[in-house]
Amino acid sequence: MIDYKALVKEAYEAQKRAYCPYSHWAVGAALLTESGRIYRGCNIENNTFTPTVCAERVAFFKAVSEGVKDFAAIAIVGNPQGAKPGSADVCPPCGVCRQVMVEFCPADFKIVLGRSYDDYEVYTLAELMPKVSLPLK
Ligand code: THU
Repeated sequence: MIDYKALVKEAYEAQKRAYCPYSHWAVGAALLTESGRIYRGCNIENNTFTPTVCAERVAFFKAVSEGVKDFAAIAIVGNPQGAKPGSADVCPPCGVCRQVMVEFCPADFKIVLGRSYDDYEVYTLAELMPKVSLPLK
């Protein structure tokens, strides 16, 4: 059984490292592998905008670059920089990050959207990325 609450807490820890001086929107992600490892990610922005990377992709690329691809779940939290957990709604992943999930994750991969430390919603990748063609596992 996946401890979703613990994963959301990891996402809030990851969010503390968000580098978001342009949007002031801080995002944290915690990516859980089948073997129980957690890869954290935060959004990293850039003055020229295009190089900006979402928290989710930072977490995925950290893992994949270390040879890890057995993903079970990801928790995501996002809110205005400095806002308290619970003061904003969930932060669903963007389309580009969903496409990266399709590349590496099975259809029942869990996406946990945190609203606060103990308020979250759980979706499968198939729910958030329906009617997609290969390579969804
Ligand atoms: N962002 C993420 O990191 N993940 C999401 O799911 C939504 C958007 C980032 C990108 C940018 O740095 C900021 O949030 C505003 O869009």
